[in-house]
Amino acid sequence: MRIDGHTKLAFVLGYPVAHSASPVMHQAALAAAGINAVYLPWAVAPENLAGAVQGLRAMENLLGANVTVPHKEAILPLLDSLLPEAEAVGAVNTVIPREGKLLGDNTDGAGFLSALRQELECEVRGLTVAILGAGGAARAVATALAQAGASALILLNRTVDRATRLAELVASRHPACRVTVQFLQQHQKISHMADICLLVNTTSVGLHATDPPLFDYASLSTPILVCDLIYNPPETPLLRAARSQGCRASNGLAMLVHQGALAFERWTGVPAPIHAMREALGIYARGVFP
Ligand code: ATR
Repeated sequence: MRIDGHTKLAFVLGYPVAHSASPVMHQAALAAAGINAVYLPWAVAPENLAGAVQGLRAMENLLGANVTVPHKEAILPLLDSLLPEAEAVGAVNTVIPREGKLLGDNTDGAGFLSALRQELECEVRGLTVAILGAGGAARAVATALAQAGASALILLNRTVDRATRLAELVASRHPACRVTVQFLQQHQKISHMADICLLVNTTSVGLHATDPPLFDYASLSTPILVCDLIYNPPETPLLRAARSQGCRASNGLAMLVHQGALAFERWTGVPAPIHAMREALGIYARGVFP
């Protein structure tokens, strides 16, 4: 990598951020595309987010930035405007500098759809999808799935009220998609399992080995596709249980690659070198793409 007076800067803002695989992936993409830029992790404590955004404004050689937990919603009022995806989801994962302004975008939902299509050969139109969780990540995934023509979404969450609010939001924007809500707890079996083609975990459960299961994983009785947005550890207990019961299973690397590719394209205007991005994640990717 050559650094000189023309080198542009890109960041991922998060707290903590050391676990992020985005720097490895994006630096490989920049190198493969021959773009003179560096992509760095930037650990920003919540109380310093406004200052960090001011810092981005001061950087005339800013290529772009990603935003991760816990800043995806808090950054909204600090930006100049939001692109429709960020507006719809109420969260930003990508900041694009344009003519002296900072635009907020969200590539999570579109990245998830691309991952389904390009990595997992899964076409969403007409599918019934179960989504575990009802937070920000669930909002991006549910909105994208409904927009892509999923015929039904089942939102499963520990806090039913939150899932109901998300269901109302999705149903108001995509009336053709049937959205229902189910209570989720440790010993619960998923009902209507036979109707479900795809199950997506958007919660943080599975990040730590000691996390109790989200539901009774033995109720994954039919051979469906199970996606976990978590990529570290590469195989969560949910994915392990899914595989052992004959399901196809994929961790969050597939989505990481594709949301990153869309961000890369918005910053640079050139096609993302997806192959280099996948390859850069190889150390994390053992056995993740089925
Ligand atoms: P994100 O923006 O990453 O989606 P979030 O908005 O905090 O994060 O949402 C986290 C989701 O994970 C929520 O659906 C949360 O359930 P609640 O709405 O009941 O809080 C879910 N979640 C987190 N920890 C959980 C746990 N231990 N058991 C079940 N669900 C959990």
